[in-house]
Amino acid sequence: MTVDAAGSFIVDTGIIIQGPPIGTNTTGQEAQGPHCITGGGKPTDGAGGQHAGHDRGGRPLHRRGPRRVLRLHQHPQLAGRGGLRAELAANRKPYHSDEELEGRKLDRTLTYGLAGLFVVAIGLPLYWLSEPGRQEGAEEDFGRKFVDRGAELFATTEEGGFNCAFCHGGMNAEGGVADYTITDANGQFVAEVEWQAPALNTVRLRYDREEVRYVITYGRPFSPMAAWGLEGGGPLNDQQIQNLIDYIESIQITPAESQEQVAEELADMRELEDEDGRKVYPPSVSDGELLFNLGYESGFAGGAYACGRCHTIGWSYGEKTADGSGGLGPSLRNGVSINQFPGAFQGPVAQADFVCSGSEEGQPYGRQSQGTGQMPGFCQTPEVVSNPLETGEVGVEDEEPSDPDTVGGMLTKEQVEAIVVYERQL
Ligand code: HEC
Ligand code: HEC
Repeated sequence: MTVDAAGSFIVDTGIIIQGPPIGTNTTGQEAQGPHCITGGGKPTDGAGGQHAGHDRGGRPLHRRGPRRVLRLHQHPQLAGRGGLRAELAANRKPYHSDEELEGRKLDRTLTYGLAGLFVVAIGLPLYWLSEPGRQEGAEEDFGRKFVDRGAELFATTEEGGFNCAFCHGGMNAEGGVADYTITDANGQFVAEVEWQAPALNTVRLRYDREEVRYVITYGRPFSPMAAWGLEGGGPLNDQQIQNLIDYIESIQITPAESQEQVAEELADMRELEDEDGRKVYPPSVSDGELLFNLGYESGFAGGAYACGRCHTIGWSYGEKTADGSGGLGPSLRNGVSINQFPGAFQGPVAQADFVCSGSEEGQPYGRQSQGTGQMPGFCQTPEVVSNPLETGEVGVEDEEPSDPDTVGGMLTKEQVEAIVVYERQL
């Protein structure tokens, strides 16, 4: 063996190196020989009795001309005893016979393949067919959970909720009153009042989800309605407000039911008498004026249907000033409507359209105004656009706005037109 200039070992395999004669005891243990003796004294199953050349003690290997040792590796169990064992490489091991391979084995493999094909050909389409149903089920389930959680939040403080039900007229939110202390600009006591809290079982007929979210989050300043969202300084996070809206959604009545209640209340108001037995609203009082003040005396629906609760100072606590004197909404007196929606014919049409659908945040209306979304829509239910990415809403389906000419909303279109006639006289 030599080393060349590049540092490679060159082994001349032609040279025969003669070791000590067979049988010489070179290790002080056993005699070397054609049958290698392992530590246990058993012959290894080496290749045909030939010496496998396994010296780890540095002795030169015996070589008797060219021969092949297929694979030589240490057998783990013999390792401790210094034994080695040669095995056939895996790819040279004899396998099943042709008869076996082409008979039972082939059949079995084909059967497995067929079974697999069934799973793919029948199982997958079946799964695919049931998938929409499964997803719907999951969404419904989510929706129900959200509504349930919303209900817990909506409940009275006594029941562990945030008391919405207490002011808004129970779990069905049919309208109620709230004790409230009115203060002046310096925080000085002015009066202790009972403030009408609007029914919320129609709130989605007049507001879209975002508008409801806004009121709950920021509240109504100068009223008993506090800000409930974190952004408004309240205790509820976005998810909780979402759950509340889901709950409120679940208690909504239909436009038809709403219009029916309005008709009954109108009839009741017509019957209303003062202490002297005189009609409070004689026939000379228009339906428009009645609707503007719907529920003022009776507290019907917590004033939810009335224009006065936002457009007349003192309306919500029984001390109303001149109709349309202003409040959360602007004053409607002294020809404001005519100025905002001009034209003897066009004006009322445009104004009725506005009152029907309400204002939308950022959208222009009237002559030169911009909506905040706080003016409700009274004869058209708002469209629903589900927006799960931004709001995390689950189970909310898109809905078209209702048609004011046929369906209406909280009120019918004729009722809104009657109110508009009254407004334009203020
Ligand atoms: C202390 C009584 C009180 C509590 C508690 C209360 N609200 Fe209100 N809420 C009111 C009053 C009063 C108004 C009407 C304010 C006004 O006159 O503008 C109102 C208005 C609203 C409105 C706007 C409805 C509309 O048509 O103007 C929504 C929505 C609403 N509340 C939801 C809730 C929810 C949800 C809760 C519970 C987290 C809640 N409120 C708790 C008294 C209350
Ligand atoms: C919940 C409070 C609220 C109620 C109830 C309400 N409005 Fe309004 N209204 C507003 C607000 C707020 C505005 C101002 C526009 C805005 O902020 O988007 C407004 C604006 C208006 C305007 C335009 C006035 C102008 O000069 O800009 C008219 C007309 C009007 N409302 C009519 C009505 C009629 C009619 C009703 C009853 C059928 C009604 N409103 C009920 C809050 C209300």
